[in-house]
Order: sequence, then structure tokens, then C-alpha cells
Amino acid sequence: MEFHQAIPVDSDYDDSSSSDGDAASSKYSKYSTQSLTSSIYEYRYENGRRYAAIKGGEYTLPNDEAEQERLDIIHHIYLMLLEDKLHLAPIDSNPQKILDIGTGTGIWAIDVGERYPSAQVIGTDISPIQPSWVPPNVEFQIDDAELAWTFKKDSFDLVHIRHMCGAIKDWDELIKQAYRVCKPGGWIDCAEYEMDIFCDDHTLPDSLEIKKFYVLVNKAVETTGADFTMADKLKPVLEKTGFTNVHHELAKIPVGPWAANRKLKDMGAYVMMSADTGFEAFGIQLFTNVLGMDLEDARHVIQMSLKQARNRHIHGYGKHHLYYGQKPLDE
Ligand SMILES: C[S@@+](CC[C@H](N)C(=O)[O-])C[C@H]1O[C@@H](n2cnc3c(N)ncnc32)[C@H](O)[C@@H]1O
Repeated sequence: MEFHQAIPVDSDYDDSSSSDGDAASSKYSKYSTQSLTSSIYEYRYENGRRYAAIKGGEYTLPNDEAEQERLDIIHHIYLMLLEDKLHLAPIDSNPQKILDIGTGTGIWAIDVGERYPSAQVIGTDISPIQPSWVPPNVEFQIDDAELAWTFKKDSFDLVHIRHMCGAIKDWDELIKQAYRVCKPGGWIDCAEYEMDIFCDDHTLPDSLEIKKFYVLVNKAVETTGADFTMADKLKPVLEKTGFTNVHHELAKIPVGPWAANRKLKDMGAYVMMSADTGFEAFGIQLFTNVLGMDLEDARHVIQMSLKQARNRHIHGYGKHHLYYGQKPLDE
């Protein structure tokens, strides 16, 4: 199956009488979802969610348990998408050093450390939410990827960057720093998604609250100076930085288990599971603190979006962009 093809709809699922996702009696009931300093541990609590206080609380997603669970679900979705591969970059089978920027819960770094025991794996993040019991070749560092990286030039076989749109202001600089630390012949592997929901069969009119949700998130993120528009634009950035053999592909991932294809159906079900807390994670702080919306209005948009995402007659999907590129051997 090609990642970017139109996704055929499962007519059984679509024909169900219930449209609000609360389909306990349907055959798809299982798809209805229910070097550290102390300041790094300073958290901010707001509207029932916990945020990193570092960088003046600039990063707008929470870092609490619900968010960590959401990140781990998305990791699982990517494993399904990539058929258990952790990256698309065709790296050597015996890598020595791997870097994961914005590692989140560290789930990718831990998996990659287990897959390549030869490699020393470093995961960096501004939040100390990674586990302490990890494979001996995996370590985590608290580091702001927007500051100058202290890693040695030409030292990593693979630099992995996943889902950092909305967190990074200067992507040219981020990719330049990744290029500097890549070994000649080493690889960068990136995955980003567009902050929008798409549809190929007109079941998702622009008038829906869920469309408004994405418009509002983009507007708010733009105000913060972070960039959520880079997901489909990284190929020229990688190329102008010097990476060669640059590869880009688009993967459509359904929101909800509406696809006829079994694997896409399962992936869509996991997306719905992540959406249970995802709409709130993305929306609540941006809508109230950045856009100045009333909490009640913000909650209304979030709740309506979740309800519409669960609507089995709406066939929405996300666009995920997968990239890799190689630093030339003669560099
Ligand atoms: C959406 S999560 C993705 C996590 C992980 N890459 C994954 O795919 O599971 C983004 C992560 O980037 C981290 N982050 C945000 N801004 C950062 C920065 N300037 N430097 C390092 N990490 C950052 C956040 O704390 C969060 O853990």
C-alpha cells in the first residue's frame, strides 16, 4: 500500500446508525474510545494540565502523564505506519552514535537503543519526563534544541527529529545544527505532520468546529513565533543545508477507524485514542493564554472538535511528512 493514496472508506463502519462515536453495540465498539538544574523540575499547572516552566513556559503542550501517554500512542502509530521500522533513513547496520532531538518520553530513543546495541543513543528534551531505567546504551539530557548544540561536529550516524513543528522557531538553524553533528555519510531522519485535518470525500465541511480548531491553533502558534507550517517544506531546507539523497514521502493517517484497510483502520483507532487528550493538549493553553479566549469558549471548541472527530460519517485524515537525507561522505 502506498502511504499517500486516497483512503477507501469501510462502508460497514460508515453505515452504522450511530454517528457520535458512542457505538457500544456496533461491531466496532472496540474502536469507540474511551546535566540537570532544579528549575527544570519547576512545573506550571493550569486548567488541570502540567506544563514545563523552562524557557518561560514557551512550549505550549503539557508534559503530564496524559500527554506522555499520548506521545507513546503516537509512537505506536508510527511503528504501524513504518512496519516496525524506527526510521526510513538507510543507515549502516552497526551505528555508533544516534541523537534524538525533542525525545519526549524517550520511547523512540529506548527502542532504537535496543535495536542497535552497538550505538550510544542520546535523547534531548526541555522536559525531564524520560524514565530512569533505560538500556545501558541510552541516555537523556535536558537541552534546548534552539540553543547552540554542544555535541561534537561529525559525530552522529543518525539524527532523528520527530514532531517538533510548533516548538521550533528557526528550522533553518535546527537543520544546520543537525548537519554539523552528523558524520560524513551519516543521516538525518525527520517526521512532521501538518496542523490540519483533511478529507477526500466532502464529509468534512469547512464550517465544522473541528476545522475552526485547526485555524485557531495555527493562528495562536504563529503569534508565539513557533512554526507549524514546516511539515511539508523540509525538503528544500535539508537540501540547501547540504544534505544529499533527500527523500520525502507523504503518509495519510485516518482520524478514526473509518478506513476499509485493516491497518489504516487500526491506526485511525489509535489516532482517536490520542485525540481524547490531544485536542485539549493543543488547544487549551493556546486558546486561553495566547488568543485570550474565555475558558468556556475554548472548552466548547475542543469538545465539539473531539465529538466531530468521533463522528463515523466524517472521513478525516492527517498528513504526515517523512524525510531523510545524507551528509555527503566528502564533506
Ligand atoms: C510533540 S513532542 C514529540 C516527542 C518525540 N519526538 C516523539 O516523537 O515522541 C515534542 C517534544 O519536544 C520537546 N521540546 C519542545 N521544545 C523543545 C526545545 N526547544 N528543545 C528540546 N526539546 C523541546 C517537548 O518537551 C516535547 O517533549
